[in-house]
Amino acid sequence: MNHESKYQLVFGDVNETLLLVAKDRFFDLIIADPPFGISFSKSSHEYGASDYHLYKDDFTPENYYEFSKKWISNCYNALNPTGSLYIISGWTNLQYILNAVETTEFHMLNHAIWHFSWGVYTKRRFVTSHYHILLLVKNPKKYQFVKQKHYDEDVFFWKEYNRGNDPHRIKGHPCQLPIVLLEKLILTSSSVGDLVGDVFSGSGGTILAARRTGRDVIGFELREEYKTIIEEKALFGKKLEKESVTTTLDKFLDKEDS
Ligand SMILES: C[S@@+](CC[C@H](N)C(=O)[O-])C[C@H]1O[C@@H](n2cnc3c(N)ncnc32)[C@H](O)[C@@H]1O
Repeated sequence: MNHESKYQLVFGDVNETLLLVAKDRFFDLIIADPPFGISFSKSSHEYGASDYHLYKDDFTPENYYEFSKKWISNCYNALNPTGSLYIISGWTNLQYILNAVETTEFHMLNHAIWHFSWGVYTKRRFVTSHYHILLLVKNPKKYQFVKQKHYDEDVFFWKEYNRGNDPHRIKGHPCQLPIVLLEKLILTSSSVGDLVGDVFSGSGGTILAARRTGRDVIGFELREEYKTIIEEKALFGKKLEKESVTTTLDKFLDKEDS
């Protein structure tokens, strides 16, 4: 891997910034972990703490659906013709996302599950321990897919590496995806030197994962107050060790049948 990643952070509403940025260069891969639309969900507590902005959004079912349609179609227009989009979502408002996807030209290749064993404890229902991961492509005949192991199933699980014990997790953002998951998505659906976008950057994990895998990356985030957290987590200004990716993946990916 000889590519020195270029990285950038863009603040503001991604529906206003994404297509402006894409004018210079289309994305090869976009990762999207959208806000949960928690204000209207009866099951919002499933996802944990309530005293963060993330959990105080003012979506209604109607405007969450409209918002989803807008950002998903903007992602479509910001991608290369061979580009892919991963959408990561909890189950509570998944219906709005799936319905929004139906209004676009995207082709869904997978509806995968990331199983984590670190859910919020519940007494009278099963503990939520999964996220949905949709793999969408613009052209089902031409897209990137580099399998990470011979029999790569659509249920992802890292026994020792979960939602709550990600070693890269830092204080200040409530819902951070683990780097091992983001690296898997990036390695599967893009190549060294490609441009990866994260349209809801949060704590900036995708920026770190893209840099570690030698991809250029642009992160979009509404709230400027996360700047310091993102810069710290994504190690802005630091040269990253090339070996770090293989070290993580060798440790956590099941290599036995590769
Ligand atoms: C579920 S979190 C993403 C967490 C991220 N995957 C991580 O690992 O840290 C969603 C993020 O989207 C941001 N967001 C919400 N609406 C947005 C918008 N219109 N444009 C850009 N970012 C937005 C929120 O501030 C929040 O940080």
